[in-house]
Amino acid sequence: MNFELLSLDLAGAAKQPADALVVLLPAGFKPGKDALGALVAQALKAGDLDGKAGKLLALYRPAQAKAARVMLVGVGEGTVRQVRQAVGSAMAALRSGGPVTQKLALCFASAPQAGALRAAVQAVADTSYVYTTTKSKAEGRSLARVSLGVPKAASAQAEFSQAVAAVAGIELAKEWANRPANHATPTHLADAARGLAKLPKISCQVLGPREVARLRMGAFMAVAQGSEQPLRFIVLQYQGAPKSQAPTVLVGKGISFDTGGISIKPAGEMDEMKFDMGGAASVLGVFRALGELKPAINVVGLIPSCENMPDGKAVKPGDVVTSMSGQTIEILNTDAEGRLILCDALSYAERFKPAAVVDIATLTGACVIALGAVRSGLFSTDDALAQRLLAAGESAQDLAWRMPLDEDYADGLKSNFADVANVAGRAGGAITAAKFLQRFTEKFPWAHLDIAGTAWKSGAAKGATGRPVGLLLDFLLAQGGSAPRGGKR
Ligand code: BES
Ligand code: MN
Ligand code: ZN
Repeated sequence: MNFELLSLDLAGAAKQPADALVVLLPAGFKPGKDALGALVAQALKAGDLDGKAGKLLALYRPAQAKAARVMLVGVGEGTVRQVRQAVGSAMAALRSGGPVTQKLALCFASAPQAGALRAAVQAVADTSYVYTTTKSKAEGRSLARVSLGVPKAASAQAEFSQAVAAVAGIELAKEWANRPANHATPTHLADAARGLAKLPKISCQVLGPREVARLRMGAFMAVAQGSEQPLRFIVLQYQGAPKSQAPTVLVGKGISFDTGGISIKPAGEMDEMKFDMGGAASVLGVFRALGELKPAINVVGLIPSCENMPDGKAVKPGDVVTSMSGQTIEILNTDAEGRLILCDALSYAERFKPAAVVDIATLTGACVIALGAVRSGLFSTDDALAQRLLAAGESAQDLAWRMPLDEDYADGLKSNFADVANVAGRAGGAITAAKFLQRFTEKFPWAHLDIAGTAWKSGAAKGATGRPVGLLLDFLLAQGGSAPRGGKR
């Protein structure tokens, strides 16, 4: 899908050669004297339109515009949320019948608020996304071209470029998270990461079982040992700033399928555990966007990836393993595997002397209970880092909520046979998981995003969301490493 940004007033919007024209109208909008403006004025006067958010008036071949289908949609005060909702309802109306829209013009009748243009771009992408990879007769996304109109394109260009890059990253994350586990093995994920190294400033290194054994990643290896699929440890590096600048390290949980292992999960909805590499997919997506935006920052992406399977060779409840950090772990529940692969990746992160480390993981069902599908769980030992991540979530409309890390929550992780157990009781499960991870993060400022509730949708709309690519990208770009000026996309 191709996006372009144009300077358009209503008269300009009316001339757009598109299958459909969507005009976003804020409350109190004063139309001009042009033909489409006059039509809007009439509709407003008659009460067919009032600028209220989501109020939609659909027109067919009005003489006042070139597009066959025209939707006038209210956006209220024009907040980011209202714009997202308005675009969402216009897209739903366009899809609900009639010919498919291949070329869309989407115009803001007056200058959008900060973040609203990006919300519109992302809402168009989100509502037109189609997964095709494993369908035999792939009918892909019909929308091919989107022209975005704002009164003054020049002042919106930076936000527009960032939004388009974010969409590319979000869609890469969706693609990999959506792929079934037999089409998204650790080896496939590593190949996808290698593909990203074709982009500017990105390099990739992939470690296999032998190298990981040499690193003594005993916790990661324990999870992988029940699977026929060899593990992969992916190291992505984006270098946009001098080497002297400490990188931010992103660590993505890459369990390509989570059966639970010997502590096997119930059958219902187990298929959704193909999404258990959503953290890894978000790291791939962030790198995709970085390669496009080329900001002056350094970022490392680490992805420990394997399957969690029951097998004669699988790790058993009660087994004790030695992590890369030297800490021994009693694996009381093999279904708490995410923290086992992440702890070794966190130890590996030390070698980059990072400015900060953020891990992203579909870690606990408990986090879904706590926060549902609206906000990701954020845990951090560093208040400033937490604030930056929360702020990025707000600006990207990819929300997170800070959760506690009081030391008392670690009580349940005590073990009679190792330094630490991999599970505590059921209570506060998202927090005790984070407390486990915290033991491996002493050498750097650290934050953990539990995306178990936000990385994918269940039910009829089952599919990956691409979260939290938007949050992570805003977080990274806010570090002062804005894209070099004049850089052409
Ligand atoms: N991948 C799951 C977490 C998960 C479960 C995410 C359901 C989304 C929906 C993780 O590996 C897991 O199984 N966690 C266990 C931990 C428990 C054994 C302490 C859980 O949440 O049940
Ligand atoms: Mn599990
Ligand atoms: Zn898991």
